[in-house]
Amino acid sequence: MVRRQLIEPTLVIATHNKGKLVEIDALMRPFGIACVSAGDKGVSEPEETGATFEANAELKALHSARATGLPALADDSGLCVPALDGDPGIYSARWAGPAKDFGFAMRKVEAALAAKGASDRRGFFVACLTLAWPDGHCETFRGEVHGTLAWPPRGDRGFGYDPMFVAEGETLTFGEMEPARKHAMSHRARAFDLLTAACLSGRAR
Ligand code: IMP
Repeated sequence: MVRRQLIEPTLVIATHNKGKLVEIDALMRPFGIACVSAGDKGVSEPEETGATFEANAELKALHSARATGLPALADDSGLCVPALDGDPGIYSARWAGPAKDFGFAMRKVEAALAAKGASDRRGFFVACLTLAWPDGHCETFRGEVHGTLAWPPRGDRGFGYDPMFVAEGETLTFGEMEPARKHAMSHRARAFDLLTAACLSGRAR
């Protein structure tokens, strides 16, 4: 499959989250790409109405690309639990409620597993990244990291569901792990590797 190359010098990051912008900016800088956030460009946040991570990443990236006339990058991510039919999945952020309380969200996952009497404690994180251009062209990449769900949660590093996730072959939760180690194996890193290999291969690093 021929992938469209990102040749433009400026990329809009379709997020209003400063943390995500800083993380993505650090990944893009070695390729000579300057990142600006959709928020700084005055672009609103679209409603995430898609039924999949891919659909939500695409709608966010396209919204910013069309509004700014520049290529845009969006990510959509979450935790999927097979014993809960994939929940919280695309609703991972919403399970934390308006207070964005991930202690509450993790308890909700644990309570749902208990209610089902589930002995299957597998879980996996998904990240979908979409590069979109103002003409509507999209390139989308998916990364996953598989593991098991620990209880009680452990560690105060990372964010979201990190304290209850132990990646395959590891003993520490993502919440206990050195951030660099998590970032080397995470779903987001895997999606980024695919994106850079496919769409940034012609750019100097
Ligand atoms: P989004 O910003 O709509 O993509 O929401 C993603 C949500 O999924 C976040 O709010 C987190 O709860 C969860 N999530 C995604 N990636 C991670 C991760 O690396 N660690 C922990 N939680 C994550």
